[in-house]
Amino acid sequence: MIEEIKPAEGDGVGGSMAKVTIIGAGQTGATTAQWLAEREIADLVLVDIVEDMPQGKSLDLMQAMPVLISDAKILGTNGYEETAGSDIVVITAGVTRKPGMSRDDLMQTNSKIMTHAVQESLKRSPDAILIILTNPLDAMSQLAMKVGQLPRERVIGQAGILDSARMRAFVAMELGVSVQNVNCYVLGGHGDSMVPLVRHSNVAGVPLMDILPAKRLQAIVERTRKGGGEIVSLLKTASASYAPAAALAQMVEAILRDRHLIVPASAYLQGEYGISGIFFGVPVQLGKGGMERIIEYDLNEEELEAVRKSAAHVRKTIEGLPA
Ligand code: NAI
Ligand code: 2OP
Repeated sequence: MIEEIKPAEGDGVGGSMAKVTIIGAGQTGATTAQWLAEREIADLVLVDIVEDMPQGKSLDLMQAMPVLISDAKILGTNGYEETAGSDIVVITAGVTRKPGMSRDDLMQTNSKIMTHAVQESLKRSPDAILIILTNPLDAMSQLAMKVGQLPRERVIGQAGILDSARMRAFVAMELGVSVQNVNCYVLGGHGDSMVPLVRHSNVAGVPLMDILPAKRLQAIVERTRKGGGEIVSLLKTASASYAPAAALAQMVEAILRDRHLIVPASAYLQGEYGISGIFFGVPVQLGKGGMERIIEYDLNEEELEAVRKSAAHVRKTIEGLPA
């Protein structure tokens, strides 16, 4: 019989490295863990309700570390005790949409999951910054802030990095240039009413509108808006995971390394862009305090109208949250 090998002391997670808990060890949660562990950004705790699954995934990831040369520790669990003292809690737990469903259709089920995840994690990590992924994203971020009674700096929703990355990828494919040269900014709610800011987007400094014919540009904007649905209709039983997970990892890294990185993300607005009282996608600065600042672009009337339309949609979804 093979004797069990135990770590010398405790579980070894969160010793010298920052500690990040990921709730929901499904497609996006596990892939986020992979990006973070591979880059040795933090020790990780993976939580999921499926028995043995987070334990199996974390053991598998731990066994990848010698090959990838990372001393990050990853622990899987079905409970919350091991999450104590986390610097960041990423919440990806929830159901995904199936072909034909909208993100808003997930509201009832995911509200219950989100409420439980926030309560249980804050009990053990009262100072943690929450990064939310679960859909409908803006509403789930709003619920997390309310349930946790947190200041807005400590709750950030992931949407804008993903939506902007989709647009960047489509532009790079269309023009045959490196993705490094393509800067695109998508604001607004994480839904089909999102607002790709064409006027602020560029390729190596040259405005997108000067490079791409209007028709092609419009096609890219439309494909970006429906980017999540395109993947769902291809995968059929799952939604996107690699790109959302890469976006989450970028946010975690920016906060832990205090980068003051400006990215589009969902933040609670208090008058910015003329909007108050809802989570909404805007450019934010991320550092060790979480959401440090909201940046306000100078938008023209057409852009503001698109922002207002998207905000109205998000507000309607948020009004559907359980009281
Ligand atoms: P998935 O189904 O692969 O993983 C979700 C995991 O959550 C499952 O393993 C499930 O067992 C777990 N879970 C369910 N209830 C739980 C609970 N109470 N506590 C702990 N774990 C629980 O789904 P995936 O692809 O990881 O997506 C997760 C969520 O994120 C979905 O709501 C999806 O729509 C959303 N999403 C949002 C994106 C964004 O940009 N904001 C991008 C991609 C996904
Ligand atoms: C996406 O945009 C599912 O919201 C997710 O891919």
